[in-house]
Amino acid sequence: MSGQKIGIVGSGLIGRAWAMLFAAAGYRVQLYDILETQVATALVEVQKELQSLEAKGTLRGKLSAKAQFELISGTNELKQLVESATHIQECVPEQLELKRGLYAQLDELLEPQTIVASSTSTFMPSLYSEGLKRRSQMLVAHPLNPPYFIPLVELVPAPWTSKESVERTRQLMLSLGQRPVVLQREIQGFATNRIQYAILNEVWRLVAGGIISVADADRVLSDGLGMRYALMGSLETAHLNAPGGVSDYIQRFGGEIATVSASYGATPDMCGEGETLAEIARQCEELVPLEALPQRRATRDEFLTRLSTLKRQFP
Ligand SMILES: NC(=O)c1ccc[n+]([C@@H]2O[C@H](COP(=O)([O-])OP(=O)(O)OC[C@H]3O[C@@H](n4cnc5c(N)ncnc54)[C@H](O)[C@@H]3O)[C@@H](O)[C@H]2O)c1
Repeated sequence: MSGQKIGIVGSGLIGRAWAMLFAAAGYRVQLYDILETQVATALVEVQKELQSLEAKGTLRGKLSAKAQFELISGTNELKQLVESATHIQECVPEQLELKRGLYAQLDELLEPQTIVASSTSTFMPSLYSEGLKRRSQMLVAHPLNPPYFIPLVELVPAPWTSKESVERTRQLMLSLGQRPVVLQREIQGFATNRIQYAILNEVWRLVAGGIISVADADRVLSDGLGMRYALMGSLETAHLNAPGGVSDYIQRFGGEIATVSASYGATPDMCGEGETLAEIARQCEELVPLEALPQRRATRDEFLTRLSTLKRQFP
């Protein structure tokens, strides 16, 4: 992999995580940022993080932390970053005009072999690549935070993204040990947020309706459904839950699913329901006070590490 150069545009939280994932697989990585000081800061942070992971025994890949860090360099010139790159992972803030401006710049600099993937959580790729010369080389590769421990990457093509760009990105993600999923066409929210928001909507309705507390609603996922979903999705779960597989499951439970689904009601107006939000926030803060959030995040990430190790043993 060392022959291949990967460029990272934006050296914030997600840019640094990608740099570590690529270096773990042995790629040569260059980091770029609009803020000169940010590149230097990012390199220091990445070095510390790699050393800490190595000390904890959770460093990915076969190379030492030192060898991985040696694969990562920085630049303050976009032109230099793009030069001879196989892949560029864009990680700039989630602002459409900012992304549009950057892609217009990249369009002038890109070489024919370079694919640009955006880490965007929300923008469909057509929103920033339409009208560009190199638009067939552009797509979304959306990670989940923290990417170092959550393997999913959603690949989302624009209508004009070439099949080759999608397939090469898929292979690249596999070479990192990530687990890419491919959407056949772009859709708002991609797949992850569409499913995540469906859950959030129903949890909101149940809490707002006084049916269940915040702690108990969350436990339905963390102590119940999530135990299975950490290993397999909702369709395989259904497939395993009836003697004759998923067709049998739907024959048995499809009527009940339709009846319950018809009772969900309207999509909650989360921004407009101030009282419900205040109550949900009160209960969340009882569970985790705001000042304890960093510690709780760290604990979650530590357990995600262990879970990802366990999951790798699951066939
Ligand atoms: N944070 C998350 O949980 C998460 C998860 C998945 C995807 N994402 C996506 O990843 C992207 C980056 O998010 P983040 O959380 O790392 O943001 P961040 O604010 O931590 O980092 C963004 C970096 O981009 C730099 N930057 C700004 N304009 C630039 C430009 N024109 N050229 C180069 N660099 C520029 C900033 O200086 C900063 O260092 C966003 O699109 C976001 O939606 C974030």
